[in-house]
Amino acid sequence: MLLQSDLATSKPTILVTGGAGYIGAHTVHLLLQRGYEVQVVDNLSRGHRHNVDPARLHVVDLADTEALCGVLARHPCEAVIHFAAYIAVGESTRVPELYFRNNVCGSLSLLTAMLRSGVKRMVFSSTAAVYGMPARVPILEDFPYAPVSPYGESKVMVEKILGWFDSLHGLRSISLRYFNASGAEPGGTIGEEHDPETHLIPLAFRAVETGQPLTLFGDDYPTPDGTCIRDYIHVSDLAEAHILALEHLLAGGGSGAFNVGTGTGHSVREVIAAVDAVTGRKTPWVAGPRREGDPAELVASADKLKRMLHWSPRFTSLRDIVATAWEFESRRR
Ligand SMILES: NC(=O)c1ccc[n+]([C@@H]2O[C@H](COP(=O)([O-])OP(=O)(O)OC[C@H]3O[C@@H](n4cnc5c(N)ncnc54)[C@H](O)[C@@H]3O)[C@@H](O)[C@H]2O)c1
Repeated sequence: MLLQSDLATSKPTILVTGGAGYIGAHTVHLLLQRGYEVQVVDNLSRGHRHNVDPARLHVVDLADTEALCGVLARHPCEAVIHFAAYIAVGESTRVPELYFRNNVCGSLSLLTAMLRSGVKRMVFSSTAAVYGMPARVPILEDFPYAPVSPYGESKVMVEKILGWFDSLHGLRSISLRYFNASGAEPGGTIGEEHDPETHLIPLAFRAVETGQPLTLFGDDYPTPDGTCIRDYIHVSDLAEAHILALEHLLAGGGSGAFNVGTGTGHSVREVIAAVDAVTGRKTPWVAGPRREGDPAELVASADKLKRMLHWSPRFTSLRDIVATAWEFESRRR
């Protein structure tokens, strides 16, 4: 077991899966800033080569257990931060087999490689989608699992596997259930570049730039302006939560699950107003029908993360979050 005092002097090597993606790349950046050595595994199916220093990138698929063992043999790691997954809820309802294979079988392959290599700590990217349509907000970690998509179900399955691996193999893990990741590290070169893009803020920018209207999925919800309310969490604050979870595990802490959100919700119309204010232009939009399985309001209680891991978000204003995303968007054009 590593003690906090050891962490102050020598920082261990961490394997990051999905480090060529949006949140993974931000976390790699922060890990390096904090003095950790980092190796990245990514198959580049949805991420970007330009997000990772080639010296630390291993282009490997999670399904390839042998190759993962090879990476861990050449680069002994103390822990894994596991981002690699497919993330589009809608796509998961069209091709659920893809999501169960990649997200569940892929995670199992990674866990197998970790056990074979003697690596027994993982921080896992989970999601608010494990709660489905919760009866009330803010959402607490002890609300029941009730996913309404194969994507959410795939994350529940991995959380459950992690529970068994904790009790049967002593593999300690922290599942971080993110709400809506957004923004970009100011002055950085990483940002949201999903393909397909399904997230509101980059889609609103696209509408501003192309003049093609953004579709709002429902404007008749029981919310003050009729549009859905979500909890937008800045990607750098998410990255910080990973470092705190990692350090908890490295110091011998036990397994658990934490929400990562701000505790404040914003409606789709409020996000559009923030995009208008930041870009100085009007976002064209049209109201469309509701999407199946979209709850009216998803807002986290992040009290557990604040209390137990001493996390506090740097970005608490929606406008500031949107401004950092726009800065990235303007730079890459
Ligand atoms: N973006 C959000 O708002 C959000 C919200 C909740 C949870 N999450 C979770 O956070 C994690 C990261 O999300 P993101 O937005 O950075 O996504 P992303 O698509 O930008 O990054 C995922 C990365 O994983 C890689 N990958 C996928 N399958 C792989 C495989 N089989 N082998 C190797 N690499 C593989 C992709 O190439 C990509 O680089 C995901 O697990 C996602 O479910 C994201």
